[in-house]
Amino acid sequence: MRFSGKTVLIVGAASGLGAAVAEAFSAEGATLVLVDRNADIVDIAAALPAASGIIGDATQPATASAAIAGAAPDILFHAAGIDPLSASDVPGTSLADWNTILAVNLTSAFVFAHTVLPGMIARRAGTILFTASTAGIKPTPREVAYAVSKAGLIQLARAIALDHARDGIRANALCPGFLESVMADRKAAMTAHDRAERSMNAAAIVPLQREGRYAEMAALALTLCDDAVSGYVTGQAIVADGGLLLT
Ligand SMILES: NC(=O)c1ccc[n+]([C@@H]2O[C@H](COP(=O)([O-])OP(=O)(O)OC[C@H]3O[C@@H](n4cnc5c(N)ncnc54)[C@H](O)[C@@H]3O)[C@@H](O)[C@H]2O)c1
Repeated sequence: MRFSGKTVLIVGAASGLGAAVAEAFSAEGATLVLVDRNADIVDIAAALPAASGIIGDATQPATASAAIAGAAPDILFHAAGIDPLSASDVPGTSLADWNTILAVNLTSAFVFAHTVLPGMIARRAGTILFTASTAGIKPTPREVAYAVSKAGLIQLARAIALDHARDGIRANALCPGFLESVMADRKAAMTAHDRAERSMNAAAIVPLQREGRYAEMAALALTLCDDAVSGYVTGQAIVADGGLLLT
């Protein structure tokens, strides 16, 4: 198994992409530390062979410290994020929403990188993969704070890659386009009709005519974290969008 003997820390693992990545790493023999503010993380971890679940707010250094107590992560995969419907263009985004979106999507990635990097540097090995978005490359309409947070994640990955290549560390940003589900914080605020409309829009706009599947994003994430195949890939924004950015 590709990740036997490796410890993987996954931030935002209670649903969607993070949960799919947890399952994929687990199937390849990894030991997992799973973090989420959603208490379901405990049951998700209990259902996997070598996983522990930590309930916590990823923006808080105490959550990151708890995640590495007794664990030395070889890989950090960060997927925690929000995209509240209440935020829009600049006039339509409250300062409170701006601060929350930047804190959850970007600062939490800094907090976890800040916490795991000293150990990775000491061991002279480590891989970091943040989940950005095509919105970090080409802004989507009326999602200013989200787009800026995702652009920040791409630059954070590039900066870590540059500063720590000599320490044996790789860092990249995965940039999905439309995925099969809207994010959990939006889902709660959308009707079934809204969600069906989103899928139809994606099929109409995306050249490959469909949304991306969490399982295929998870397979790509594992490939990017696998030194045997991606050992020379660092500082990159890897786009998996069905061709969306071509439009
Ligand atoms: N769904 C999409 O279409 C899409 C597209 C492009 C990029 N992305 C990105 O992929 C990542 C995963 O998205 P998803 O679709 O799986 O969304 P999701 O909402 O299903 O998963 C996000 C997880 O992050 C957790 N989380 C949110 N705030 C947190 C906090 N403060 N502390 C700890 N955990 C927190 C949530 O509880 C949830 O489990 C996000 O970063 C998102 O921006 C998603």
